Amino acid sequence: MSDAVRIAVLASGGGSNFQALVDRFRRSPEREVVGVIASREGAGVLERARRAGVASAVSPPASTSGGAATFLRRTLDEWRSDIVVLAGYMKLVPEALVRAYWGRILNIHPALLPEFGGRGMYGARVHRAVIEAGVRITGATVHFVDEAYDRGPILCQWPVPVLADDTPESVAARVLTVEHRILPAAVEALASGAVRLEADRRVRWVREWFETETFTNREG
Ligand code: GRF
Repeated sequence: MSDAVRIAVLASGGGSNFQALVDRFRRSPEREVVGVIASREGAGVLERARRAGVASAVSPPASTSGGAATFLRRTLDEWRSDIVVLAGYMKLVPEALVRAYWGRILNIHPALLPEFGGRGMYGARVHRAVIEAGVRITGATVHFVDEAYDRGPILCQWPVPVLADDTPESVAARVLTVEHRILPAAVEALASGAVRLEADRRVRWVREWFETETFTNREG
């Protein structure tokens, strides 16, 4: 492919996953992080975008929900986005956008879906629920986005142990380091055509790319 695959990000928070994408693709002529849309003014991700020289925008508040949908669509289209990544994005993606970018929108979730996901399950709440449930393994999930929170077809997952003295904060930190590896790997897999979403909503790995490339290649 001659043109770079153009990657846009939606985020609400500090943006460490956005940073992981920027770092992964910075030197790649075939991939470009073209912009980030924050769901609120003052989100830390905006400062990261400024430092990385990546375009940014802030979407209008939820009170103008029709407006937010139009804004997202227009901005992503303007950036000629090929792939959209939800990296700590707290809002529901408007249905029209899901349809327009079907199979090209990914979300990262800091637990092993379908457990510990859905509306209201974000940030420390996820990790608190994990500890309260007493599970010994949590992890990170990257999935294709559909109309519901955290429900779309799963692209990949990676496990993380829950230890006896863990707090929500310590679990979050352990999971986050895995997120920073799994998310860029998943985006690269989608960009390269190693994985795709089929019409029946099944995720098909075209090549056994994920395991070999991601977790044996430790220098990234
Ligand atoms: C991550 O744990 C992500 O999985 C979740 O929100 C957190 C965002 O972290 N959805 P950051 O803004 O990327 O640092």
